[in-house]
Amino acid sequence: MKLVLAKDYRDMSRKAANVISAQVILKETSVLGLATGSTPIGAYQQLIEWHKKGDVSFASASTVNLDEYCSLPSSHEQSYLSFMNANFFDHIDIRRENAHLPNGMARHYEAECEAYDALISRLGGIDLQLLGIGPNGHIGFNEPDEHFMMKTHRVRLSDATRQANARFFGNDPNNVPEFALTMGMLHIMQAKKILLVANGQQKLAVLDRALNGPVTPRLPASLLQLHPDLTVVFSEK
Ligand code: PGA
Repeated sequence: MKLVLAKDYRDMSRKAANVISAQVILKETSVLGLATGSTPIGAYQQLIEWHKKGDVSFASASTVNLDEYCSLPSSHEQSYLSFMNANFFDHIDIRRENAHLPNGMARHYEAECEAYDALISRLGGIDLQLLGIGPNGHIGFNEPDEHFMMKTHRVRLSDATRQANARFFGNDPNNVPEFALTMGMLHIMQAKKILLVANGQQKLAVLDRALNGPVTPRLPASLLQLHPDLTVVFSEK
C-alpha cells in the first residue's frame, strides 16, 4: 500500500486527479471505476480543468460507477447519475454509451445486478477504481455485515449511511432511499489499481482501523489491505 499525505483537500484532489489522469494517458481505453460522495468532487474538478486545457481526454475510456440509489428516478437531482453528470460527465468528452451506473430503478434488481457484473467482466475488469470511505467503513455501498458481499447486489442502507447522506436530502435521514444497488467486493478487489481518497479527522479514525486493524466484513474497507496495488491519498484538513 502507498499512503500519500496531502496538505489539504485541494492538494488531495490534485494528487488523486494526477493518478487518474496518468492512467488514462498511459491507457486511453482504460476502464475507470468511479465514486460519488463529497470527497472525489475536487478530483473531478481538477480533471475537468485539465481536460479543458487539452491535457487529458476520456474519449476512449469507459467508466463504471460503484452504486446507485433504488427508487430514485435517474432524473432526480440526488441520483448518482445526476451527480456524475453534474460533477464530471457533462464537462468531459466521455461517450455517454461508455459511462455506466447500475440502474437503481430496475424492477428486477437481481437481473440488473447480474447484468452489471457481466458488463464489468465484458469490459475486461476495472483498470483503476476510485473509492471514498464511509464513516462506518463502507466502500461503494458495501455496508458492515456478517460477510463480504462479492457480487453486485441490492443493499439496505445502514442507519449510519442514511444519517451521513441526510445532508443531501433536506437533513432528514428518512428521506434518504432505504435501498441501493452496489458493486460488490469482487470487482473492486479485482481492479488492477485502487485509489482511495479521504480527508478530515473523522475519516482518519476509520481509515486507521481499515488499514491497520483486522480484515473483517464489519469494516468492509479493511479488505483493501489485501489488494496488491492500493494507493491512499489522505489529507487531515
Ligand atoms: P463522502 O462519502 O465522500 O461524502 O464522505 C464517502 C462514502 O460514503 O463512500
